[in-house]
Amino acid sequence: MYIVSVGRNHTEGALDVPEHHSQSRGIQLMNTTQAPVKVITYGTFDMLHEGHLRLLRRAKALGDYLIVGVTTSSYDETRGKLNVRDSMMTRIANVQATGLADEVIIEDYEGQKINDIQQHGAEIFAIGSDWLGKFDYLNDFCKVIYLERTAGVSSTQLRAEKLGIVRLGITGTGSATNWFTDEALKVSGLEIESVFNTDAAIARDFAKSNSIQNHFSDYDDFLVSVDAVFIASPAQSHYRQIKRALESDVHVMCERPLTLSQEETAELYALATERGKVLLEEIKTAYCPGFIRLVALARSGLVGTVKCVDATYTRLTEGPRMNAPFGGSVSQLASTPLLAISKIIDSPLQDMQAATYPHPDDAVDEFSRINLRFDSSISSITVGLGVESEGHLTVTGTRGTIYVPGPWWQTTDIFVRFPEPSRNQTFHFPFAGDGLRYAIAEFVSMIQNNRLNSYKMRPKDSLFISGVIEAFLQRQARGTSDSF
Ligand code: CTP
Repeated sequence: MYIVSVGRNHTEGALDVPEHHSQSRGIQLMNTTQAPVKVITYGTFDMLHEGHLRLLRRAKALGDYLIVGVTTSSYDETRGKLNVRDSMMTRIANVQATGLADEVIIEDYEGQKINDIQQHGAEIFAIGSDWLGKFDYLNDFCKVIYLERTAGVSSTQLRAEKLGIVRLGITGTGSATNWFTDEALKVSGLEIESVFNTDAAIARDFAKSNSIQNHFSDYDDFLVSVDAVFIASPAQSHYRQIKRALESDVHVMCERPLTLSQEETAELYALATERGKVLLEEIKTAYCPGFIRLVALARSGLVGTVKCVDATYTRLTEGPRMNAPFGGSVSQLASTPLLAISKIIDSPLQDMQAATYPHPDDAVDEFSRINLRFDSSISSITVGLGVESEGHLTVTGTRGTIYVPGPWWQTTDIFVRFPEPSRNQTFHFPFAGDGLRYAIAEFVSMIQNNRLNSYKMRPKDSLFISGVIEAFLQRQARGTSDSF
């Protein structure tokens, strides 16, 4: 049970309803020993507004005792409500401050409402009419009442007014940017304003087909038109485009890999700090709710001390391959498994070894395995292009194992296993759409709240990733064998 606070006891609560109601119910209560009628309602209640107040007042007037369920941030994230501004504690405090809730509970998972209704003996479930029909299934447990939504006000609108709309530009017009335009629709607080491509006709066509207002083939003109950019151009352009954007005081989110050089990565983060701008590497996995929980579980000590992380990421590719060094399995894919190692092991790298072979038609590596050694743990990544392997991840601990089946990078199911099967645990998380919405939401939230760092994707993660990729590519270029 998740009672956060009970401001008053039931009798006080029943007498403390709005006047028109307390008189009628008050007489009833004095003349009868009937149990109080409990009403339950739910919401995020972000930036509490008049619409919420009117809803709570009318819900309260339906009975004697009002229970208000306030959603947790993680539940909101999993149901696709991204960019909620107030913390859960603030939202709870605001609901309590209305004086209308007799009890505040926390809503943390899908399906919880049925349990709450039964556990609290609620007779009425009330909710705004924007949910009309959606909760009819609760009629099996109590009476469902839809209250007309107050027109002209919403948290979404207030967030936009208070925090402003981020004017965003995108560079590159490949598949990643197509996904981006779809996924960005799920996040509030941004508007895709401009698109850039060196080929003016491509930029124009992309803008037209995605209803984007402006298109540019001059990068500097493009930067002037936006507050922030999503860079999804070929990897060889990343360093130059990120640098130019930061120098123009534009926030940057860039597709993986940020760069293929640790020095360049460090330079770009230093520049971002100097300019007071956000620089974020976009590795979708880093921002998805399941992966964040995976890292937390691994680091919590649940399976003891982590001794090894093994992650595989392969992809069947089509179309022409890119030239070395950008088109190989490591430069294309290694960022994601290296991210998992960086976040879970989180200690300085001692040394590494690789086994790889080149594609027959060009110089790039097609399939590669890299072993990494840390102070008191080891790890490995396996990456391959044009091959399909089981894309799973295993965390080996001193007391148990965490197993994430493929595709682990869209973390949905996490199995925690122990020698005693009775202790095993399974977790399930949603992964909405293509996952990019979680990264976009973090980017927008950082900009709006002037937060230059994200625990989800730290500069040290990007530095670790580019350092390993760079060492691998240097070894490739030297043509040296195995160990480096
Ligand atoms: N509500 C309402 N009138 C409004 C806004 C909300 O009656 N103008 C009701 C909702 O129908 C719901 C409760 O208040 O029953 C909590 O809604 P919540 O989703 O927290 O607020 P919204 O303003 O709808 O939030 P958002 O814009 O983020 O979706």
